[in-house]
Amino acid sequence: MNKYFRDKKILQSCHIYRMLSRSAKEKHISFHTPGHKNPKWDITELSFSDNLSNPKGCIKEAEQDISSLLNAKQSFLLTDGSTCGIFCMLYSLKQEGINSVAIPLSSHKSVYNACSVLGISIFPFEMEKNETGIEEFPCVSVIKTALDKAGALLVVSPNYYGKTANFAALRKLCDEQNKPLLVDGAHGGHLRFEKQLHPSSYADMWVDGVHKSLPALTQGAVVSTANDNFLKSLKKAVDIFRTTSPSYPIMASVEYAVKFPNNEKLEKLVREFAKQNPARIQLHEDYTKLCAVFGSAAFKAEKYLEEHGVFAEFCDGNVIMFYLSPATATSQFKRLAKRLQKAFQIFPLERVVLVPAPTLFGVLQEETKTELVELDKSEGRVCANTCGLFPPCTPLILKGERVEREKIELLKNANNTFGLQENKMTVFKV
Ligand SMILES: Cc1ncc(COP(=O)(O)O)c(C=O)c1O
Repeated sequence: MNKYFRDKKILQSCHIYRMLSRSAKEKHISFHTPGHKNPKWDITELSFSDNLSNPKGCIKEAEQDISSLLNAKQSFLLTDGSTCGIFCMLYSLKQEGINSVAIPLSSHKSVYNACSVLGISIFPFEMEKNETGIEEFPCVSVIKTALDKAGALLVVSPNYYGKTANFAALRKLCDEQNKPLLVDGAHGGHLRFEKQLHPSSYADMWVDGVHKSLPALTQGAVVSTANDNFLKSLKKAVDIFRTTSPSYPIMASVEYAVKFPNNEKLEKLVREFAKQNPARIQLHEDYTKLCAVFGSAAFKAEKYLEEHGVFAEFCDGNVIMFYLSPATATSQFKRLAKRLQKAFQIFPLERVVLVPAPTLFGVLQEETKTELVELDKSEGRVCANTCGLFPPCTPLILKGERVEREKIELLKNANNTFGLQENKMTVFKV
């Protein structure tokens, strides 16, 4: 545990960590789960360890601290990733009688899955691309057109490229139509220090995916509500969607991560580096997503960097995104900067690639029979299972879309994908 959580001062204020550290020192013979029988840090709900489903002790205290730091009416600890938080928000929406939502077409697959499972209709709007192929928010009128038809708005902010939404404008839009605003902040837990970049002052419900941009263990997240309107249904939602065996190390890490301070020194360094490389580095409002533009050489550059021990979050066939966090050591960032300078020389920017977006082909009325085909043989067929690169885990080809060669090549080049089976695509039978 201590390898991951190093700041002793923060740890002193962490209720779950303190309980675990006390318990780790005590004599304890385990005849309870988990089955590894090493009840030091990874324990279960015992007389002294509280219970996430009905917290009364250290978990309650941790959730109260988290709510207050995130400026929420109430926050709920999640050990099942932002995916769980997205299911909870959308379930809560449905419980309040709202059956449709406007979403960015490039929403994470959890948004599509939750809407499909919960029977919520979606009204997608397309994001824009800037001159270097990076996704940006469209103007409010585009979002309004989708929201006019839907009962609520869900946006992703920051997105995987560090672009943030104009929350003030979106809140105004939602208020004009008296509709709730939901925010998928899977990448934004660290932004609580900057009021205009964090959803807490604007959204009705939001998710902070703390494990991605803060020093929490993988799967750590928080779902919050700002007001009483959704409190009851969100409570019901977390009771349904959260695991009954939450990991104590993950819960402790979420509390630690939310309490982690801003890192202004690192941000300054990263912004300086971006300024020195304007043609190759795109850095947006959120400094933790450093986007290096390699264009058509992106996959080769990714390979080169990995050969030198530098592993990025993802490569989309144009940009390589390096995910930083306030816990990134300055020395490590300097090593990245040095290696990137070399990579820019080896792979000069010859051609920017506009990564293709999914297209809505039209809703298929009836499920027809499907079959699996080799990627190379899928060109021209109609996709029957949404798929894309992993990460960012947003659709590249939507169910119902005709498959194009350019997208097949992207899928073939990516390190990881979702929605394919053994590298084959599910298509509708002709
Ligand atoms: C925008 C967005 N939302 C939600 C998620 C789901 O988060 P998790 O993997 O923590 O469940 C992700 C994951 O990459 C994401 O990128």
